[in-house]
Amino acid sequence: MNISFKPLASLLVLSALSFASFGQNNGPVNRIGKVSNVTINGQQVNITTDENEHVQVQVYSPSVVHVRMDKKPLGENFSYAVVGKPKQTKANITQDNDAITITTDSLVTRISKNPFAIAFLTKDGKVINRDEEGLTTSWIGEEVTTYKEMQEGERFIGLGEKTGGLDRRGSGYTNWNTDAYGYSTGQDPLYATIPVYIGIHSGLNYGIFFDNSYQSDFNFGASNDRFSSFGAQGGEMDYYFIYHDQLEDIITSYTDITGRMDLPPLWSLGYQQNRYSYYPETEVMRIAQTLREKKIPADGITLDIHYMDAYKLFTWDDSRFPNPAAMNKKLEEMGFKTTVIVDPGIKVEKGYGAYERGLKDDIFLKYPDGVNYSGQVWPGWTHFPDFTSEKGREWWKKELKYFAETGVDGFWNDMNEIATWGQKMPNNVLFQYDGHLTSHKEGRNVYGLEMARASYEGARQHLPKQRPFLLSRAGFAGSQRYTALWTGDNRSEDSHMLLGIRLLNSMGVSGIPFSAMDIGGFTGNPSIGLYARWIQLGAFTPYFRNHTGVNSKSSEPWAYGEEVTEIARNFINLRYKLLPYIYSNFYLAAETGLPLMRTLAIDYTHDPKVYNGEFDTQYQFGESFLIMPFESGKNYGKVYFPQGKWYNLYTGEVETGNREEIIPISYNKLPIYVKESSIIPMQSLVQSTSEKPTDTLTVHIYKGDVNNSFVYYEDDGASYDYQNGQYYKRTINYDARRKAITFDKVEGSYNSNFKNIKVMLHGFDAKAKLKLNGKNQKAQQDFASFIDPISRFDPQGSANPKEGYNVQSFVIKNDKDKITLSY
Ligand code: GLC
Repeated sequence: MNISFKPLASLLVLSALSFASFGQNNGPVNRIGKVSNVTINGQQVNITTDENEHVQVQVYSPSVVHVRMDKKPLGENFSYAVVGKPKQTKANITQDNDAITITTDSLVTRISKNPFAIAFLTKDGKVINRDEEGLTTSWIGEEVTTYKEMQEGERFIGLGEKTGGLDRRGSGYTNWNTDAYGYSTGQDPLYATIPVYIGIHSGLNYGIFFDNSYQSDFNFGASNDRFSSFGAQGGEMDYYFIYHDQLEDIITSYTDITGRMDLPPLWSLGYQQNRYSYYPETEVMRIAQTLREKKIPADGITLDIHYMDAYKLFTWDDSRFPNPAAMNKKLEEMGFKTTVIVDPGIKVEKGYGAYERGLKDDIFLKYPDGVNYSGQVWPGWTHFPDFTSEKGREWWKKELKYFAETGVDGFWNDMNEIATWGQKMPNNVLFQYDGHLTSHKEGRNVYGLEMARASYEGARQHLPKQRPFLLSRAGFAGSQRYTALWTGDNRSEDSHMLLGIRLLNSMGVSGIPFSAMDIGGFTGNPSIGLYARWIQLGAFTPYFRNHTGVNSKSSEPWAYGEEVTEIARNFINLRYKLLPYIYSNFYLAAETGLPLMRTLAIDYTHDPKVYNGEFDTQYQFGESFLIMPFESGKNYGKVYFPQGKWYNLYTGEVETGNREEIIPISYNKLPIYVKESSIIPMQSLVQSTSEKPTDTLTVHIYKGDVNNSFVYYEDDGASYDYQNGQYYKRTINYDARRKAITFDKVEGSYNSNFKNIKVMLHGFDAKAKLKLNGKNQKAQQDFASFIDPISRFDPQGSANPKEGYNVQSFVIKNDKDKITLSY
């Protein structure tokens, strides 16, 4: 090299050299290149790049843009997750030498041509999200990744069942459905893959749903300070970008794409008693009877693997359960529904019916040479139905009939990651993938989703008049259409109780509103205090499931002494009294996807405090309740009250928001606060949902400075008649400025169970003049009480006969026409 080169010139030469060597293709990393050809077709832009990559950008709705990229021309967009269809949308698409610009009513998508890179902007030009310009999208072999520029202060939430804090910034995650027995609080991956997250920065929020079922990786700035990224080991780069002002609308748009849950059967919202395992029949009946004798309300009993003959699915162990149909009938008469576990592994055993029928119908997963794949699970060597084939699902549905005929109401789909001892299912096992034959690499993550689908369709087919209840351990985006998900084999530890809350909150923002954890913990034994705390929290989770492992101590509400029994009863009672509120919130989930269990990030998205590790397990249960989970040993805890006013549930005292506070914590009372202006419908106590409550619905109204409304929803809780208009729905409004509470005219043809409505006023002036539809109305002195005192704190039972405080109330007729109350 000529040493007389001037410094500036040498710099130029160096940068030219580096540009050459850092062109589009760098060794194994194949970058997408620059745009070479553009076709605009209605709402869709098709692009090829000089590296021969293919891109399709489609306006899916005003707020959603669907992006696909592949090394080969883009064909059919087959997806198990997606059920939505693109909407006809007004989109203005223009291009010049530098870029293609797509403008809808909600956002601007700008595709730079050299290099190819996508930016999503607000209409006034703010960056919501954009590709990292140097890295954009690239392939390493089959692995494809899209890199996004990390925005100032950007936070990330969601991604379903993932450990870690609410804010995932600085962390990376892998999606590969895994049987994670006794997982640690930082373990990844767990059982389910829900590849959707929400990014939050500078007052903006957006969602990205990566629709790819291969093992995928998300990096939110882990080990790098440059980008966030998502990628998979194969398949297309296929993602939906969602933009809305309100975070809850992102959830709604996401569930427009991947579907929503149906209304659940009401009984599945009651308390569910499980263990691994209750058997024989006398033991099942003892549990059921004890729940009734001890007046602990319950709706469900769950049978774990020991009900089967040698773990062979679609059998009953005759000696343990000589007449399952008769037992289920007895349980039904006592107000219990039976849920049974169903594992996918079918024992390889000559003469065993399900095995023989499976062979005959040829429905098992296979190696490429046509030999059925065998893996070991509970029954020993087993074959696995291929739920990604119509044939496999049909076979399963036929088999389920056997259970449906014996009076089983719920199907608990377990071990469907697929779990096999050794945890290394070979990648050369083939999946039919509904006409798109593929390997384990692409099939695994959707196996649980498709198993739940088959179970759901089977239950619908065999029990056409009743809503099925399904629970699943593994899942994928879209699982919410068929099933509730639970977080598998957690541990009986404080940190797991809190982790469980974060997992359920995260599932909630990821489109899974119906979720659960094993209350009390699956492995090990909780301390008395931990059990007491956990069961209180359980009452404020969507599916209230008490469960424990085979070698652990019993976990029924009476297993931890009289005092804990009283505490458990208190909170299970409260759960039952809250069913009108809970059910209405499930109606909302079915309509909009909004979960019942809500991280504070949904309503207080841009308040940095809610992401603070000290407060990030706090959550809302519906809009009204603010739940403060704490480790069991704590006597004091720091909480954060978000903006607004908050009523202490037990005392009615008001806390002002935007404030941290240290509060005392007693082990018999989960700290719960009620948001100002709340509208909370409640019913009288029942021992199960098969029992009718009294004919008075109590509607609690908490005085506040903001307006609020609540959609009250009621139907028979069991059938599909609501789809033919047989429901009772009305919006209840609280108007703080006009000082009025109104019940809108009732919609639907269902006759409410409640003849009367008792309105309970919290925080209102006792002297206020009440008017009902313009006429003066007299309020009664009343007492608001949500739990009973427990004996240790009230040995005489007289000093403090009830936990609660004075309020006013009055009773009105539940007229279908509009009702106006002013004060
Ligand atoms: C799995 C499930 C657990 C169940 C056990 C036995 O570990 O996660 O809930 O009790 O299998 O079926």
